Amino acid sequence: MERWRTIIEPFRIKSVEPVRLTSPTEREAKLREAGWNVFNLHAADVLIDLLTDSGTGAMSSEQWAGIQRGDESYAGSPSWYRFLDAVTELWPFRHVIPTHQGRAAEKILFSVIGGPGKVVPSNTHFDTTRANVEFTGAEAVDCVIPEGRQPSTIHPFKGNMDPEALDALIRERGPENVPVVFVTITNNSGGGQPVSMANLRAVREVCDRYGLPLFLDACRFAENAWFIKQREDGYADTPIPEIVREMASLADGMTMSGKKDALANIGGWLALNDDRWAEQCRTMLILTEGFPTYGGLAGRDLEAMAQGLREVVEEDYLRYRIRSTAYLGEALLEAGVPCVQPIGGHAVYIDAAALLPHVPPLEYPGQSLVVALYREGGIRGVEIGTVMFGRHPDGSETPAPMELVRLAIPRRVYTQSHVDYVIEVIRWVAERAPELRGYRIVEQPAALRHFTARFEPL
Ligand SMILES: Cc1ncc(COP(=O)(O)O)c(C=O)c1O
Repeated sequence: MERWRTIIEPFRIKSVEPVRLTSPTEREAKLREAGWNVFNLHAADVLIDLLTDSGTGAMSSEQWAGIQRGDESYAGSPSWYRFLDAVTELWPFRHVIPTHQGRAAEKILFSVIGGPGKVVPSNTHFDTTRANVEFTGAEAVDCVIPEGRQPSTIHPFKGNMDPEALDALIRERGPENVPVVFVTITNNSGGGQPVSMANLRAVREVCDRYGLPLFLDACRFAENAWFIKQREDGYADTPIPEIVREMASLADGMTMSGKKDALANIGGWLALNDDRWAEQCRTMLILTEGFPTYGGLAGRDLEAMAQGLREVVEEDYLRYRIRSTAYLGEALLEAGVPCVQPIGGHAVYIDAAALLPHVPPLEYPGQSLVVALYREGGIRGVEIGTVMFGRHPDGSETPAPMELVRLAIPRRVYTQSHVDYVIEVIRWVAERAPELRGYRIVEQPAALRHFTARFEPL
């Protein structure tokens, strides 16, 4: 294993899907039709789709076999029990509530524990988490360590929460107004950065001081565990499943999108220890998702996640996964393209504020770069900046703390030559960055505007 430097894809390809190269003129027309919002494009017009790593992974032959095995009984399906075993082997919480994806778990949890006057701290809330908190009238507050807000500062666990900031927030608002503390692993909106075990322990201590429950937004838990194994003292010889169980032992519950580290195309769950909350959440589940042994899912989806959970903690997979993301990031850094450092687990984040300093935040430098990458190379990334986070529930707008463009890597989908092409296109665009112009929004909904807003070039 150690003899060769090249870290290969630990799989071979059994089924292929064509991708289509379009011309820049065609893509310009597609952009105009889409209101310069790449969420509005037809995916068939995208060559390399790095919009998200969510639900876009390739399943293994064993997962497809599980799909065939899926049992569609309404209640008590064997697929449910296989899923439950796979979840609780890693996350031994008392209650597991299946949902059709992560945000459904968030919606159910916060509709039970949120509400006006409440505040929910996190290292950094993901956009759907923030929106689900705010939708109940509660406030979502980010308490990431200061390094987590500085794109070029190197820190091994840049997703860590600031325990002092958390403590100060709880004292200021009163523990009775904090229903739960959340930690997102890895920290997606903060750059796909990991959280250390020591930090989880420190956050746990703060929670214990005030008798508050700690929940994990655990979408990329296996990637986080791999970083702990690589970077944190004392874990080099600990098997990944044990690291995961230790993270679980520090928490009272979790929300999960199975579309990430359950290696599935759909699915998620909410897991927790509190019996009263679980009962209220199950009532909401029945209203919005389905019976408690399938949630919003088919039996076959539960099978895909059960098998995915076994594969995602394999070290060959994680070594390849984290290395292939770093390969893209390191090539861009070498070419002088500013990126969030160190490179995170599931995505490379280009610092659009640094690359396009001539475009002010309220003219959306990240959006400008996203549009350029699609126009020039058919590559679809996503803005994580003022378009995504700049608008507040009262309709006002302020610049987001960072202006990033995320290139998320679907799991087990693209090969090294696809990534080499992406590097070539980005280098070309970065060399011409001073020519890129800003955008203005001409249409937007009240919440989660980045999905559907329409833009015009300035
Ligand atoms: C950190 C984090 N939390 C929650 C979610 C929501 O999950 P889903 O897309 O399955 O609703 C995502 C999805 O990207 C995420 O990255």
